[in-house]
Amino acid sequence: MLRQPLLMLARSQQVKNLVTAMPVSSGIVHNYVPGETTEEAVTATAELVEDGLTVTLDFLGEDTLDAEQADATVAAYVELLQALSAAGLTRRSEVSVKLSAVGQALPDDAGFGGGHKIALENARTICRAARNAGTTVTLDMEDHTTTDSTLAILRELRKDFPETGAVLQAALHRTESDCRALAYEGSRVRLCKGAYLEPEGVAFQDRIDIDKSYVRCLKVLLAGDGYPMIATHDPRMVAIAASLASRFGRSKGSYEYQMLYGIRPTEQRRLARAGETVRVYIPYGTEWYGYLMRRLAEKPSNLSFFVKSLISKK
Ligand code: FDA
Repeated sequence: MLRQPLLMLARSQQVKNLVTAMPVSSGIVHNYVPGETTEEAVTATAELVEDGLTVTLDFLGEDTLDAEQADATVAAYVELLQALSAAGLTRRSEVSVKLSAVGQALPDDAGFGGGHKIALENARTICRAARNAGTTVTLDMEDHTTTDSTLAILRELRKDFPETGAVLQAALHRTESDCRALAYEGSRVRLCKGAYLEPEGVAFQDRIDIDKSYVRCLKVLLAGDGYPMIATHDPRMVAIAASLASRFGRSKGSYEYQMLYGIRPTEQRRLARAGETVRVYIPYGTEWYGYLMRRLAEKPSNLSFFVKSLISKK
């Protein structure tokens, strides 16, 4: 199994330095990341919107250990939201934010102190900019050590910005219960399988168990009163979601499908043409390393393309 070593490499600073020093912009990175600048992100958004899709954008970066870097990330989101608004795209696009990119991983001296508080205030600034631009924010979910802090920040943000969305990961044992807690009216919840390497004590290890958990969570969310965001490329999960949506009397538009930029684009358009709301997650920016490694871990057959693109671009 290549998943484990690839996810471990995703955390290695040395490998990161080696890989990101190489100009791979026209290689496999480009299949998953349409660009590095605000302008390129807006152009990619406009193209997908033109095709009947909706979008959520992620300014790449995570595990920030530097308050200035966190501030720069906030500024990038504010600039993006203004650019989307100026281009008339905010009705069909929103942003996704990793709290570790806006300070959650900064040293925490006293329980939920330092990093947690900085991330909350930074996320609040982004939520305000999104509200002013006429759109919303979804908080991405990172590894299980951050789940409690992320859900606590979500609760705080929702006091002022109840439209803020959350992500839950079917791989974690706790998630069915978190789905129950979040399946209330006005609550937007993205359900994904989970992209991080997690220990046995907190997470299912077999794909089949993760899939079973995904279906149990789908049932809770689709039967509930919130707005489920079904984030998967797995054809079986999409088919099960469709049949559960119909069983629970959900009309199209009372839930949505979400997929990543560059993965199953034909299926994204097929669902949109069938009248479903489909949102494409666009990551952009220079900090694409961790994101790319998680995508390679999901599809190790891409690894040989990746290595070839490194060699041919050197
Ligand atoms: P699975 O991995 O079983 O893949 C099903 C099929 O999809 C594969 O057989 C293949 O055809 C295709 N596929 C999947 N990955 C591919 C790849 N990299 N390249 C090419 N084809 C691929 N995770 C997380 O922990 N926190 C988060 O906040 C988010 N956010 C998020 C947003 C959105 C919109 C999506 C779609 C996903 C996430 N994820 C995430 C990632 C998620 O947890 C999961 O790792 C991936 O979506 C892969 O899982 P699938 O459900 O697609 O199934």
